[in-house]
Amino acid sequence: MRKGFTLDSAVRRATVYATALGLYELRLNGQRVGDHLLAPEWTDYHTRVQVQTYDVTPLLRSGANAMGATLANGWYCGGWQYWEKEIRAMYGTDPSLLVQLEIEFADGRRQTLVTDDSWRGTADGPLRFAGIYEGVTYDARKEMPGWDAPGFDDSKWLALQPRGADLKVGKLAWQRGQPIRATRELKPVAVTEVKPGVHVFAFDQNMVGHCRFRFRGKVGETVELQHGEMRNPDGTVFLGNLLVVSNHRIQLDLYTFRSEAEETFEPAFTYHGFQYVEVRGLKEKPALDSLVAVVANSDCPETGEFTCSEPLLNRLAQNILWSQRGNYMGIPTDCPQRNERCGYTGDAQFFMQAAVYNMDVSAFFNKWLVDVCQDAQMPDGHIADRAPHYGTGDSWYIGWGDAGIICPYEIYRNYGDTRVIREHYAAMKRYLEAMSRNSRDGLFTGNIGGGDWLATGGGVADDVMGTAYLALDFKLMAEMAEAIGETSDVAAFRNKFAEVAKAFAKAYIDAEGNIKESSQSGFALAFTIGLVPPALKEKMTARFAEEARRFDWHPRTGFVGTPRLLLGLHLAGRDEDACKLLLTKTAPSWLYPVSIGATTIWEQWEAWDGNNAKGGMNSLNHYAFGAVGEYLFGMVGGIQPDAPGYKRIRIKPVVRDGLTWAKADYDSIHGRIASHWKREGDQLTMEVTIPANTIATVYVPVASKLGEDGPAKDAAGVTEGGNTLDKVKGVKFLRMENNAAVYAVGSGTYRFQSPFPETIK
Ligand code: BGC
Repeated sequence: MRKGFTLDSAVRRATVYATALGLYELRLNGQRVGDHLLAPEWTDYHTRVQVQTYDVTPLLRSGANAMGATLANGWYCGGWQYWEKEIRAMYGTDPSLLVQLEIEFADGRRQTLVTDDSWRGTADGPLRFAGIYEGVTYDARKEMPGWDAPGFDDSKWLALQPRGADLKVGKLAWQRGQPIRATRELKPVAVTEVKPGVHVFAFDQNMVGHCRFRFRGKVGETVELQHGEMRNPDGTVFLGNLLVVSNHRIQLDLYTFRSEAEETFEPAFTYHGFQYVEVRGLKEKPALDSLVAVVANSDCPETGEFTCSEPLLNRLAQNILWSQRGNYMGIPTDCPQRNERCGYTGDAQFFMQAAVYNMDVSAFFNKWLVDVCQDAQMPDGHIADRAPHYGTGDSWYIGWGDAGIICPYEIYRNYGDTRVIREHYAAMKRYLEAMSRNSRDGLFTGNIGGGDWLATGGGVADDVMGTAYLALDFKLMAEMAEAIGETSDVAAFRNKFAEVAKAFAKAYIDAEGNIKESSQSGFALAFTIGLVPPALKEKMTARFAEEARRFDWHPRTGFVGTPRLLLGLHLAGRDEDACKLLLTKTAPSWLYPVSIGATTIWEQWEAWDGNNAKGGMNSLNHYAFGAVGEYLFGMVGGIQPDAPGYKRIRIKPVVRDGLTWAKADYDSIHGRIASHWKREGDQLTMEVTIPANTIATVYVPVASKLGEDGPAKDAAGVTEGGNTLDKVKGVKFLRMENNAAVYAVGSGTYRFQSPFPETIK
């Protein structure tokens, strides 16, 4: 689509507001406007559509100008659900564009240009097809040089008809989150001819985005790029885990050459999850540097770094980050490659605390929580298992719908933001009411949905899980009600929590500390939600540890239990078991995939053996199990919020067998927090940085009897900056707690040292 226009004087300022039902890219006088990819991104278009704003002052000039736009189906009228006959078009059938250009001239006059019937358009351009899931078909012979600049003859193009009355469109909303952008580029490590004329580029990283290439062909010849995460034994790209419906095309870009010279191309309006690219249709072997991968994701600032003495854990931390990059695509998705890529509410919630350490996700969630709490809330108050909501995606899964309460709480906890609570408070209460309607006498009696999804024998009984979530929802709501001064609700929610906790204990916990038909996940829920009766704590701790030992310290939890497993053991005082689970290298475990070369988090514990590609529901880029990142930063590294938004900080590293040092750094909203520790000889050194305008409680492990019960005797051996603590101003000894000396400190950098005999494991 294009529009030529004339400006009669110099421009002081020009702003363009743009959006589409579908996807758009805008151009002005031959130049790209902005650097957003896949704008306006995904919302429930029937409820709201995001608008992007660009400063285009430098692109306009006095005299002849032209604006051009390319439109694609995107999520609005494409999408995998489109493949399913009964759904067809997710939100509509054809894409539309809406643009408003506001110009302010040097002399103060103003002019507005909008999409109206003076625009012209054609479907006969080089972009023949574009699907987010399918890929792009581009015929370079159809290019029309100068189409987006003044002076182009568009007389053969169609006059465009404004749409409106016939469309079901939601309200326009400003874009709250960072845009999707190209964030980095990766070079392939090999290119191999696997069959005559079939060349496979291999990367050393599974990632999400697209490729840019520089190839040569003959006019009219087409080159095909098939993207995938694994290879077949013959080296070709494996498609069996992309869950293709009736042979539908997926992750395939097609490009037709316009000349015999080298041509450069990179697709828009699509994205692929891949580590391998199969290139078909080239006559000559392509050079290794003729193709690069362009990584695309929501451009949230990265905020965390974790390293330690175990290289496999360092790679695990990287894999978690890569799966976050790959799945933060305007919304938090389950996977980036197969025919789903939806905003599964559960997946996002399970992974969220780990995600917060890796990136500043406050703006990203600020946007998505509108999709969740407003647009995906069903008339009965439940929240769908996917947001944005579409078509039939309205099922209620416990653990998924609860994202509507848990994610706002996490935003509050990590960023101190109470506006998000206020914005969604009514919706959250309606969700709680729906939960309450599905419970009797403090026990959840409703439909659970997927349960402890993908657990392998260490799960939790459905009713136990439902009731645990009922309790959790009340608990978090009580805290949030308090934060925004809804005092009358606070007591009611607290009482409800107490009632549910009591019912939980009575119905599901026996005198020996067993939880009804539940294993690791059951204990993980009970310990992290606060459902362990004090009188049974010791027995339940022993039973929990037994469930770790019974599986030889392999996690057998699913999506629900996994994020809480190590945290639960930590709260039970069993970090030795947590660390053993963390460091297990045989399957199922976190380090098994890493040990055979995984570069992202897998959907299933044993997705692959590294040799034989495995089809079916087997995504290799699914972040839920990466929730363990919370234990790396929060426990091994020891950085935790002690008050909402890190106004008060807790530094409490877990120093256990298996690791000799760890470093965690986190850019909180108050600034960088660092917690580095190292065991050397008979000494533990802790280097801690606390940002300005915050205070911290620092736990310095003093090991005299590590692994045994009872506190170390005293803090006499602890020094800071080489001085005994009685001589250091600004470091106040508070108490001994278990095996740590606890200090209060203000902002600054500290170097604590404590006796920590090498013999202690
Ligand atoms: C998705 C999951 C999701 C689940 C629940 C799967 O197909 O990939 O990650 O949470 O469905 O229904």
